[in-house]
Amino acid sequence: MSTVITNIAGLVTNDPSVGDGSPLGLIRDAAVVIDGDRIAWIGGSSGAPATDHRVDAGGRAVLPGFVDSHSHLVFAGDRTEEFNARMSGRGYTAGGIRTTVAATRAASDEDLERNLTHYLGEALRQGTTTFETKSGYGLTVEDEARALRIAARHTEEVTYLGAHIVSPDHADDPAAYVALVTGEMLDACAPYARWIDVFCEKGAFDGDQARAILTAGRAKGLHPRVHANQLTYGPGVQLAVELDAASADHCTHLTDADVAALADGNTVATLLPGAEFSTRAAWPDARRLLDAGVTVALSTDCNPGSSFTSSVPFCIALAVRDMGMTPDEAVWSATAGGAAALRREDVGRLTVGARADLTLLDAPSHVHLAYRPGVPLVTGVWRRGVREV
Ligand code: NIG
Ligand code: FE
Repeated sequence: MSTVITNIAGLVTNDPSVGDGSPLGLIRDAAVVIDGDRIAWIGGSSGAPATDHRVDAGGRAVLPGFVDSHSHLVFAGDRTEEFNARMSGRGYTAGGIRTTVAATRAASDEDLERNLTHYLGEALRQGTTTFETKSGYGLTVEDEARALRIAARHTEEVTYLGAHIVSPDHADDPAAYVALVTGEMLDACAPYARWIDVFCEKGAFDGDQARAILTAGRAKGLHPRVHANQLTYGPGVQLAVELDAASADHCTHLTDADVAALADGNTVATLLPGAEFSTRAAWPDARRLLDAGVTVALSTDCNPGSSFTSSVPFCIALAVRDMGMTPDEAVWSATAGGAAALRREDVGRLTVGARADLTLLDAPSHVHLAYRPGVPLVTGVWRRGVREV
């Protein structure tokens, strides 16, 4: 079955060789042909070939489906009280994770999966067609493995985060917990995961522990990504680059040496402004990273503690308003940037042969994602060629 979408006022392709020649490869008055689950043709609206099915975009904008390369969606419960306390002046610490660990352990598989599909539905309705998600709220061999088993039913981008915090069961013996995370827990989790992550931060894992954990994961065929430099300066970013992690996530507190390492390395800086919004912290400086030539991704970090939003459009608006990004840069980072953070070439762009993941906005331009914050602009979503919204 083939579908042509015609009369697209502005088509974001992320292919700089077409359209306006910018990184977004913006084509005006465009059409796209979807054949099966792939993009089959892209060009001017008037030259569009005949297909089985025709959709008139009505002079609106189309862009690649968002690639949310960082979320924590296998959990139970919420942390309304903690958020409320923060908004009355209390600070955020990693310790709140324990609340969600207790709720997640107590939940049934069915409850966890129902929760996950609920938040995935939210994300899809806001234009997300590819997402990564992590374990990290189980922290026992069985609870981490079941989180990943459930996640793997919904995405190929599954991350083992047994090293989220030291499990409360091992509070007196962090070394024993690191041994578990790099041993029995890793063995149980590796079959379900593509990635290994560690929260490298004060109150979680230090640089030496993080190195041991990521190295052990790599030996089992998992590729590293790192929660780095979120709450304080620290070794996470440079460790990520050294280990060729796909992504260093958060990047809120960066020295010049951290920025230089990212610029020289192959690691994407994934910025998660929902976390700064919900913890009332200072914004990561996207401008500084972009000006240094760093590849930047923008994602939600959706989790019940530090960033309870599934909305990539919201993150785009924050990044433009408060992190020095242009609307074009923010849209690129939430699509092609997310794909780069997952080392994917088949998503995050609209080129012939790419996956037919598209978002139709009820707006004439992708710029409206930042210009009209909080407005539900996503009016159509195709995932693998199937219209879902
Ligand atoms: O990415 N930083 C560590 N993990 C999450 C927060 C988890 C939580 O508070 O439950 C994050 O912000
Ligand atoms: Fe996170």
